[in-house]
Amino acid sequence: MVRFSQYVVSILSLFLWGEPEVPPAEGGCLLNNSSALTATNQRSNASKSIAIVGAGSAGLAILKTILDLPQETRHGWEVVLYEQRRNVGGLWLPDPNEPQPPKLPETPLYPRLRTNTPHPTMTYPGYTFRPHTPLFPTHEYVEQYHVDFAVNNNLTSYIRLNHTVHSAGWKGNSTVGEWVVEVHHTNGEVKSITKRSFDHLIVANGHNHYPRIPKFQGTDEWLAHTPTGTRKREIEHSIFYRYPERYVNMTVLVVGGGASGRDAVLQVGPIAVKTYHSLKEDKEPTPDANVTVVPRISHFTRTSIVLVDGRSLDDVDAVILATGYEFLVPFLSRPSSDQDASVGLVESPKTTLNCTTAPTLITNLRYIFPLWEHIFSLSQQYPPTALSFVGLPVLIANCPSDIAQALLIAHALADPSTLPSRAEMLADLVAQESRLRERGYDPYYAGHKMVGGDDDAQAYQNNLVRYLKQKGRLPDDGKDYVEPWRRIARKESFLLGRAWRRIEDNGEADKWLDGVETEDQWADLILRLVNWQRKHEDKYGLHGSVYVGQPWDESGF
Ligand SMILES: Cc1cc2nc3c(=O)[nH]c(=O)nc-3n(C[C@H](O)[C@H](O)[C@H](O)COP(=O)(O)OP(=O)(O)OC[C@H]3O[C@@H](n4cnc5c(N)ncnc54)[C@H](O)[C@@H]3O)c2cc1C
Ligand SMILES: *[C@@H]1O[C@H](CO)[C@@H](O)[C@H](O)[C@H]1NC(C)=O
Ligand SMILES: *[C@@H]1O[C@H](CO)[C@@H](O)[C@H](O)[C@H]1NC(C)=O
Ligand SMILES: *[C@@H]1O[C@H](CO)[C@@H](O)[C@H](O)[C@H]1NC(C)=O
Ligand SMILES: *[C@@H]1O[C@H](CO)[C@@H](O)[C@H](O)[C@H]1NC(C)=O
Ligand SMILES: *[C@@H]1O[C@H](CO)[C@@H](O)[C@H](O)[C@H]1NC(C)=O
Ligand SMILES: *[C@@H]1O[C@H](CO)[C@@H](O)[C@H](O)[C@H]1NC(C)=O
Ligand SMILES: *[C@@H]1O[C@H](CO)[C@@H](O)[C@H](O)[C@H]1NC(C)=O
Ligand SMILES: *[C@@H]1O[C@H](CO)[C@@H](O)[C@H](O)[C@H]1NC(C)=O
Ligand SMILES: *[C@@H]1O[C@H](CO)[C@@H](O)[C@H](O)[C@H]1NC(C)=O
Repeated sequence: MVRFSQYVVSILSLFLWGEPEVPPAEGGCLLNNSSALTATNQRSNASKSIAIVGAGSAGLAILKTILDLPQETRHGWEVVLYEQRRNVGGLWLPDPNEPQPPKLPETPLYPRLRTNTPHPTMTYPGYTFRPHTPLFPTHEYVEQYHVDFAVNNNLTSYIRLNHTVHSAGWKGNSTVGEWVVEVHHTNGEVKSITKRSFDHLIVANGHNHYPRIPKFQGTDEWLAHTPTGTRKREIEHSIFYRYPERYVNMTVLVVGGGASGRDAVLQVGPIAVKTYHSLKEDKEPTPDANVTVVPRISHFTRTSIVLVDGRSLDDVDAVILATGYEFLVPFLSRPSSDQDASVGLVESPKTTLNCTTAPTLITNLRYIFPLWEHIFSLSQQYPPTALSFVGLPVLIANCPSDIAQALLIAHALADPSTLPSRAEMLADLVAQESRLRERGYDPYYAGHKMVGGDDDAQAYQNNLVRYLKQKGRLPDDGKDYVEPWRRIARKESFLLGRAWRRIEDNGEADKWLDGVETEDQWADLILRLVNWQRKHEDKYGLHGSVYVGQPWDESGF
């Protein structure tokens, strides 16, 4: 890739007063005039410059993996991670403010969120949760895990907090060029804008931030006609859900059988006057939920919500749309402030283009294509290593998967010949899509979902790492990337959920957790718990039904 030039200018927002802040570390001057944005043009001496966007699980994984490359490989590289929020952790970092719809909150996190998977399965390989972390921890533990990972691996000096990537456009052609990246830095009231270029852009912006809101006929009319003497009718997406207590005295309809919908009915069900759960035909009711299961919504009228079977619900006060999220990367789809730079990702919800006909990278809001292995953009506009994604797969244990993806990216940055040619990657993608079709899935609807669940998710990760071994980039130990104990823990996560509930009910958590620190010890605990619970259930002929989940699945709608 070419040496790049670097444009660094900061300006003070027009709205702001007070002292200018200290210039960003890249150097650059503070101006109050955006037409002066390109006033300076500094050259960096870095041999390769890489921008990562997002400090959630995925962004931290790629940052750590790049820094783990041998010193001689990454000599002279500059790596910057931009995170718009005040700390690392991504969606596990709580929003300090209550949601105020329609303004999107910083995270969908709600106070009573616990993981739905045992934490040893959620870890970056080799990096455990702190000793004594409950097996199904509350969200605070997961947040702490991410902070610990960043701090203990010395990642923080590479991370710019409170820095939002506003736009990124590609200036160049299919073989050479650079990303022109505009970054907005907010610190209290002072805001500065930095514009500079990078050779590589790695997107780790998460995919639980832009709600998918289905359109039903008649909602406006229904909302406008709250019966007298009751709470004002409302329809909100689950991204705004925080406290079940809000629904006391209300009759609630939860739409969608993904993880958010199941959690919402479990929390709201016992408190609300009445709770309905609207599910697609293929979705299982949630065990132990105090709800009335109903089919999909057809439309709304002034008085009622009409279901597809013709029934009407006349008593609903609040609708929670747990209808999932859209795959969007707004900063990649926004016109660049540099007129010579082109948009890197086109939003096109109704497109009929496919991976062979798409002239650019496209998101149809469910699927970003064409991407090789859900990672590298095959857009003709720029080279395949110019733009990569970490964390797109759904229905997968994300941290281990993020690392498997990150290994491939790091080695491809070090040596682009790690990757097959663009034509080979495209052929691969076409073949993969056609295999999905043979299994009855539309790849442009299934998107980044691991449709076959754990088996597919594990094969995906194993294949990424096996590829690097075959290429000689990683030593071949003859083993699969996903360790046997992780496979078992995922397969038995329901059983483990029942085991853990029994242990917590008996107040025996500490007894089991004492002395469990290393990854091997956590793995051993998992196997012991599986045996212990299975013996118990066999002995008493129990078939527990506690819902604890499969990997987080937002595709319930
Ligand atoms: C409610 C909920 C519960 C979940 N529970 C579980 C669970 O129990 N177990 C499990 O395995 N998975 C769970 N998940 C799945 C979740 O996706 C993963 O756990 C994972 O943490 C996602 O990490 P990420 O880094 O991909 O994305 P995120 O955590 O969303 O991080 C993305 C980061 O990018 C930053 N960012 C975005 N745009 C910009 C920009 N333009 N400039 C700068 N920064 C930007 C964001 O601020 C954010 O910090 C859950 C998801 C949800 C929504
Ligand atoms: C800031 O703006 C004022 C007018 O709005 C102008 O007089 C001044 O020269 C500007 N300063 C810089 C550094 O551009
Ligand atoms: C902004 O700066 C440009 C040149 O750098 C100057 O021509 C223009 O008048 C300035 N505008 C304002 C509002 O200060
Ligand atoms: C660039 O040069 C400066 C000064 O010579 C040096 O301190 C810095 O480490 C160099 N940066 C890289 C990435 O090589
Ligand atoms: C980020 O901004 C918050 C205010 O929103 C501030 O409290 C915090 O100190 C800032 N952090 C950094 C590292 O600048
Ligand atoms: C982090 O930095 C400290 C101090 O330089 C060093 O002792 C430690 O080994 C580093 N940790 C890792 C994981 O690189
Ligand atoms: C891309 O641009 C570079 C430099 O401007 C040029 O040398 C090269 O031929 C171009 N490649 C293509 C495929 O247009
Ligand atoms: C719920 O209704 C009861 C009885 O009408 C009332 O006493 C109570 O204050 C209501 N609670 C809320 C949170 O509205
Ligand atoms: C279930 O909901 C009803 C109201 O619909 C309520 O009366 C009952 O107490 C709830 N039961 C449990 C076990 O939460
Ligand atoms: C893409 O669309 C074109 C035109 O509709 C069609 O001919 C082609 O077979 C499609 N390719 C794939 C891989 O779906």
